[in-house]
Amino acid sequence: MEILIAEDDFVSRCFLQKILEKLGHKVVSAEDGQEAWDLFQQNNVRMVITDWMMPEIDGLTLCRNIRQAKLDHYVYLIFVTAKDQKKDSIKGLEVGADDYIIKPLDPEELKARIRSGQRILELEEAFKKTSVQLLQSEKMASIGQLAAGVAHEINNPTGFVSSNLKTLSVYQQDMMPLLEQYRSLVAGLEKDTASLQCDYPVADSISRITQLEKDIDLDFILDDIQNLVAECREGTDRIKKIVMDLKDFAHPGEDQVKNADLNAGIESTLNVVWNELKYNTTVTKDLAELPLVECYPQQLNQVFMNLFVNATQAIKEKGSIDIRTRCIDDQVEIRIRDTGCGIPEDQLSKVFDPFFTTKTVGKGTGLGLNVVYNIIKKHHGRIHVNSKIGEGTEFIIQIPVRYEED
Ligand SMILES: Nc1ncnc2c1ncn2[C@@H]1O[C@H](COP(=O)(O)OP(=O)(O)OP(=O)(O)O)[C@@H](O)[C@H]1O
Ligand SMILES: [Mg+2]
Repeated sequence: MEILIAEDDFVSRCFLQKILEKLGHKVVSAEDGQEAWDLFQQNNVRMVITDWMMPEIDGLTLCRNIRQAKLDHYVYLIFVTAKDQKKDSIKGLEVGADDYIIKPLDPEELKARIRSGQRILELEEAFKKTSVQLLQSEKMASIGQLAAGVAHEINNPTGFVSSNLKTLSVYQQDMMPLLEQYRSLVAGLEKDTASLQCDYPVADSISRITQLEKDIDLDFILDDIQNLVAECREGTDRIKKIVMDLKDFAHPGEDQVKNADLNAGIESTLNVVWNELKYNTTVTKDLAELPLVECYPQQLNQVFMNLFVNATQAIKEKGSIDIRTRCIDDQVEIRIRDTGCGIPEDQLSKVFDPFFTTKTVGKGTGLGLNVVYNIIKKHHGRIHVNSKIGEGTEFIIQIPVRYEED
């Protein structure tokens, strides 16, 4: 654990540092409050042991600054005060310190208090992990339920539109010979009435019919009806495919290990998120033949989805996502590369942290890559990210072909 010591007295500082280092902690030490605050901001400090009276910034202000800082983890704060200044310790506790130690320092007491602080930090960590897991599973379950609900809703109307189109096509084919008969009858009559020079009302009617045929361009209509019906049927087939993909993708509640074709998972996930991608992204695929992978298929689809959505969100104007799959020994490797904005080097180590996001409120929760990380971990796989600002980002995933229970 990284511990910060803020102590202006050289001897006490060295004494503290020695004990803590002996306990295996990484120590950063400062000789005044300002230096301590600077070091605190630069390091990933989990515990602070601070003197009360210090030049520049005193312990009380340091403590206040730390508590007011927006941190994604808890920092355990211990005050060190002189024996006759007990009231200072109470003040310290009031501004957010967790504990205090009275000088002169007793090494055994110090160790015991640090251990107690560690227990609190561990509890906090465990609590955070559980709540993140809960949130993730809730998010995944609700996406699954939503997708399944939408798929069901679309399925019903698509079913009857598709079946009506089929009937319509049959009706039209049935009516065609009849229409042809009408038309040749009209043509024949037209010739007869012309040669007979007769002036029956039927002649009027025939000329109105032939005029109407011309006006509406009956030949074109008869031809185009076929095309329109065929196009509509193609449309409903496509809707059916999307619904199937959506169902494949969601599978709410069906959380079990299966043999899955990851290329197919990538394809169906691409179809599901296509609407998000299509405006600014071209997708190229280089999918090798893969063995079936023992896995939780819908969870891996979730991985692909989160990576595709991130990639397209990183593309400002126009760009591409390249997807490549390979089988290497007993692992399947999936590379997803984009030509988006890239990730700054100092953020690369944070992107898998829960709630780390650079997106505006409402656009990103910062859970996407954390979900990805946990799913890959569950499959005993590996995930790695390479990125260059202005050039793009590549996520490389390796998943063992055989699933191993924990
Ligand atoms: N392909 C990428 N290109 C550039 N930056 C990325 C890429 N993928 C992730 N990031 C960075 O990592 C951060 C975390 O990503 P993550 O998917 O965990 O959360 P998010 O996309 O911000 O929110 P959400 O929970 O909606 O997914 C993003 O905010 C972004 O800054
Ligand atoms: Mg995301």
